[in-house]
Amino acid sequence: MAGRDLSREDALSRLDHKHACHILLYADSNAKLFGKIPIKHIVLMQMRFDGLLGFPGGLVKPSEESLEAGLSRELQEELGAAVPVTMEDYVSSHLAQSPPRLILHFYSKKITEAELLEIERAAVSNAVDHGFEVLGLTRVPLYTLRNGGGLPWFLSHSFISNSRAQLLEALQRLDLVSPQTLKEAVKKAEEMRH
Ligand code: GTP
Ligand code: MN
Ligand code: MN
Ligand code: MN
Ligand code: MN
Ligand code: MN
Repeated sequence: MAGRDLSREDALSRLDHKHACHILLYADSNAKLFGKIPIKHIVLMQMRFDGLLGFPGGLVKPSEESLEAGLSRELQEELGAAVPVTMEDYVSSHLAQSPPRLILHFYSKKITEAELLEIERAAVSNAVDHGFEVLGLTRVPLYTLRNGGGLPWFLSHSFISNSRAQLLEALQRLDLVSPQTLKEAVKKAEEMRH
């Protein structure tokens, strides 16, 4: 993955490339699964029209809008909610493996649990893309149950482009999952895929 990473400046200078922006929205939470397992954080992804998991966001037009304005527009379509995105939320830019000449910009943003719950409601009731480009928002289980349920099974699903790597990198960088839990979950997921 690192070999295809670009600086924001380099990425934006490539006028012959398409650009897409996606975002990981997350919140802290005191909620408990089964009334006993702390979920700690809520991380949002979506089930796409093609059956793959990915983040909300989409294609932007750097010649007509800033990356952040384009991402906000996509979020309005896909989540049915206004989510202001700024350069502070920018994480990385990556040259897609395929199709050629597509650059994938990634963002992450912490919001409150109340804001996140409102986004989940709006995604069903207000998003024009609901049921079409977006089949549903989903939370990412960050815990691992004794039978391997939770994050390992989630990671064994199929993901669009490099969104799985974006998820893993963000879970580590934002300290949403301990390094040990993350490492073991990735290993378990590999075993499940075979
Ligand atoms: P339409 O509005 O239906 O035209 O699509 P969109 O603008 O929402 O585009 P989409 O979200 O599908 O993103 C454009 C391209 O970026 C996709 O074809 C994928 O190759 C890639 N992509 C989609 N989601 C993600 C994601 O979460 N992470 C990464 N890295 N790439 C993604
Ligand atoms: Mn879209
Ligand atoms: Mn999209
Ligand atoms: Mn679009
Ligand atoms: Mn669309
Ligand atoms: Mn934490």
